Parts: sequence; C-alpha cells; structure tokens
Amino acid sequence: MRGRFGLGAALAVSACALVVAACGGSSSSSSSSGGGGGSSSSSGGVTVTGAKVIDPSSMNSPPKGTIHYCQGKDTTGAGKAVVSEFNQKYAAQGYKVVLTEFPASADQQRAQFIQRQQAKSNDCDVFSSDVIWTAEFASQKWLYDMTPYVNQSRTKYIPAPLETVHYAGKYWGVPETSDAAFLFYRTDKGTAPPATWQAVYQQAAKQGGIVYQGAPYEGLTCDFLELGFAAGGQVLDSSGKKSAFNSPANVKALQLMVDGIKNGSAPKAVTTYMEPQTDQAWTSGKYGYMRNWTYAYAADQTGGSKVKGKYAVAPLPTFEGAGKAGILGGHNSVISVYTKNPGLALKYADFTASPEWQKISLEKYSSAAILNATYDDAGVKKAIPYAAELKQALGQAKARPVSPVYPQISQAIYKNVNDALAGRVSPADAIKKASDQINSALSTF
Ligand code: GLC
Repeated sequence: MRGRFGLGAALAVSACALVVAACGGSSSSSSSSGGGGGSSSSSGGVTVTGAKVIDPSSMNSPPKGTIHYCQGKDTTGAGKAVVSEFNQKYAAQGYKVVLTEFPASADQQRAQFIQRQQAKSNDCDVFSSDVIWTAEFASQKWLYDMTPYVNQSRTKYIPAPLETVHYAGKYWGVPETSDAAFLFYRTDKGTAPPATWQAVYQQAAKQGGIVYQGAPYEGLTCDFLELGFAAGGQVLDSSGKKSAFNSPANVKALQLMVDGIKNGSAPKAVTTYMEPQTDQAWTSGKYGYMRNWTYAYAADQTGGSKVKGKYAVAPLPTFEGAGKAGILGGHNSVISVYTKNPGLALKYADFTASPEWQKISLEKYSSAAILNATYDDAGVKKAIPYAAELKQALGQAKARPVSPVYPQISQAIYKNVNDALAGRVSPADAIKKASDQINSALSTF
C-alpha cells in the first residue's frame, strides 16, 4: 500500500518541481558558509536553486539531543547495530539517534518519506535514501546540499556510489552502503555456477529452481534490467528524453524469465517475492539458485537457515550471445531540510560513512562498503571471500536512469514485467506498454 500520497500525487509534485527547477542557465557556485545559506546548481539544463547548505563544522559540537534515522525494515539487524554503535560512542556527550523502520519495499519507503517531507515534518532527520531518489528529492528541495562536507574527502569514496549522491552539480547526501547482486548457488550440490543466464535457467529446472524478486516493486525493475541490459537492452535513449525500452533485446530477456516460470525453472510464487520472501524461500533449502543482493550472503547463514555453509556467490552471468550487466544499488544518508539539528544529523551521517562502521557493515552484514580502503582489510577479506569481486561489481554496475521521474519510469517497468511473469500479457506487449508509459512519464517535464 502506498501512503496517502499515491502515484498520481507524487508524479504531480515531481512535475511541478521540475517546471521550477528546469530553468537552464549556467551553473553558479554556492555560498556555503553559514549552514542556512542558499545554493544554486545546474547540470544538463536542470538547476536546483535555494537549497540549504550544510556547514561541515556544525558536526563538531552540535547541540545535545536526539535525532531520528529512518530506513527500510531492518531485516539483518545492521540498522539497530549502527545506531547502537553511534549511541555508545556519543552517549556521554548527550547525543542519541533513534531508529525508525519503514517497510521492506523500496517503493513504500519512498512513499513514507515523501509523506513526511510534504508535511514538513522532522520525523526523519536522516533518511537512508535509495540511490535512485537523489534527483527527485533534491529537485523537491527536501535535502540539505552536502557539497562542502563531501568535498572535504571525496577521494576516499568508491566513485560509483559517490556518483549516486551527485545531481545538478551538487552532492545531496553521504554514501552509506553500495549494493550489487550476485548469483547464489549451492556448493553442496556439487555445481559450478553456470556461465550464462540461459544455462542458469536450464540448470535451475533440474536443481530445485531459481528464486528472485518478481513482485511489482523496485526490486523487479532491478532483476529485470540485469537481464535486459545484459541482452543489450536500454531504458532511455542517449538524450535521456525518450524511451528506448521497446527493443528485441528487452523482449528476449523478458521471454527468458516468463519461460522460466512456465517451464518450472522458477516457482510462480516469485511474482509475489520481494527480498525477504526470496530469502525465506532460499533458506528453506529447496532451491538451487537465488538472485539477491550481497547482504543475503551473511543474512542467510543465520537463524534457522537450512543452507548454512552450503552456498557460495558468483558474479551475474552473461546473456547468451550478448553481454553481462549488473545494477548499482545502495543507500545514502540524506539530511532532511526540516531537521532541527543539522549538526547532529551530519555527525551521524559521517559516522555511517566512517572506516569503523564500514568495516563492521561489510564484515558482519556483507553490505557493500562505500570506502575503497575497507576492501583491503584482512578481517573483511576473510569473512567475505568475494570482497574483491564485490568491489569490481560496483565499478562495473550500471546505474538506473537518473531522473526526477525515475519512480514513474520504474513503475512502468515493474508493473508490466510482473504482468508478463504472471502470464497476463505477452512479453512483447508488456515491453511495448511499459515503453509507452515511460514516454508519458517523461512528457510530464
Ligand atoms: C536494494 C538496493 C536498492 C534497490 C532495492 C530494490 O535495497 O540497494 O538500490 O532499489 O534493493 O528492492
């Protein structure tokens, strides 16, 4: 369920913001001294003016108090852990962070944040914002411009996650975790990971099946685009203003997924799976393969998992006759303009990006660190045998389209792809319909 501001409202708001925001002109530099000063920035004809600018020194001794950190459902415990580490470190100085959990679905997290920002509420001083929302939230002027802070130590970040907070020439957050997906396979079944998606589907039919995120939400856009991009498909054309989604490559990719369900390579239930349901299915021990994000490597060894010690991960395979592709995921700590304590919010965002937390996050929760140095740590290399492949995957992953109407573009993809997976429409019709809807979304600005 969406919040009270449904798709229509969110789209309308995005479009209005763009009428104001897309005023062209050349870039002008920000005045970033006082914490409340305005900034103006532009890139590709899009300008975000008047944003509040963070004062990097405000985190050194902010007013004592409590701030709220909002993120998606803490299925791994990493959210509780980061907050507790921060609180232990700074309790004596009078600083406290409280965790607010939103639903597991990326779409619902976005809806929850939008609802609060539209009400100008300070419920989320810091929000763990998916990498795909920077353009939209910055255009709405909901986020502090963090450029002066990020510029102090830009080179410590891996370039791909850093780029996800960059929009209209400014940095709108601090990278928190990056993300890439892998093919999980069962080592106890004595198999090597197949080299192509086609072979994965063939093998899966004989080895219990493959599970992935096929429910109509952001996760399915990622799962589909991994195959679509590998097959040679695109979402937008090079101008970024028109859909290029309706292509034989995208139809071929969707056909493979649809046939997989028809032929028993994947259970029909994947059409209802988000990440938590995918993990539940995988840890039941029934399936031979899983597509999931890196976090699942650590998470699925815990609790009553029946696959503990029985799986490994491999980079996503090639699409036969074409190439390979991964999607860049991850989250950024963004600071709401409605916070009453921007200094404390920055102190917390700074902590989530610290070498100290990034090491725990990768070593214990297999979350993709955003700092180059974390991947060289001996403890990390031991706990996460694929750490080098993970870092490489981040460098090679493709970003989802950067657009203030990205959520509408994604909805066009995942709704129609889900309709095809569920057998309601043919792959060709689903891709064409999605493409038409992408063009409608683009025409709103
Ligand atoms: C993961 C990724 C995020 C993506 C989401 C989709 O959380 O990090 O970028 O949008 O999955 O479900």
